[in-house]
Amino acid sequence: MAWKKILGAKALENAGNSLSVRIDNDTVVFIARVDGKLYAMNGICTHLRCILGKVTDDKKHVRCPCHLAEFELETGKMVKPPYIAPDSPMEKLGLKTYNIKEEDGFLQIDY
Ligand code: FES
Repeated sequence: MAWKKILGAKALENAGNSLSVRIDNDTVVFIARVDGKLYAMNGICTHLRCILGKVTDDKKHVRCPCHLAEFELETGKMVKPPYIAPDSPMEKLGLKTYNIKEEDGFLQIDY
């Protein structure tokens, strides 16, 4: 694993402090800054691969726009299943999280 620059910090701010970024052919990363703290996780929903999403009003989760599954920002754990698949095995549908830092105006993830 190595730190990889993925975005200027200003771009995150301009996007309203959350967005998903494609960083290579296979990987999209969801990034959010909530109350000053940075979060990063895989940005492709484990249900049907929609791109995440928006931070929920409680500031603890990100919601998939397609079927409203929710994932915990800290851990990537699915905490609410897709409304079209309420019996989904949530324990198997979490998203990988990444360490993230800001340095010299850029956001970097340990990738
Ligand atoms: S694709 Fe994300 S909840 Fe269905």
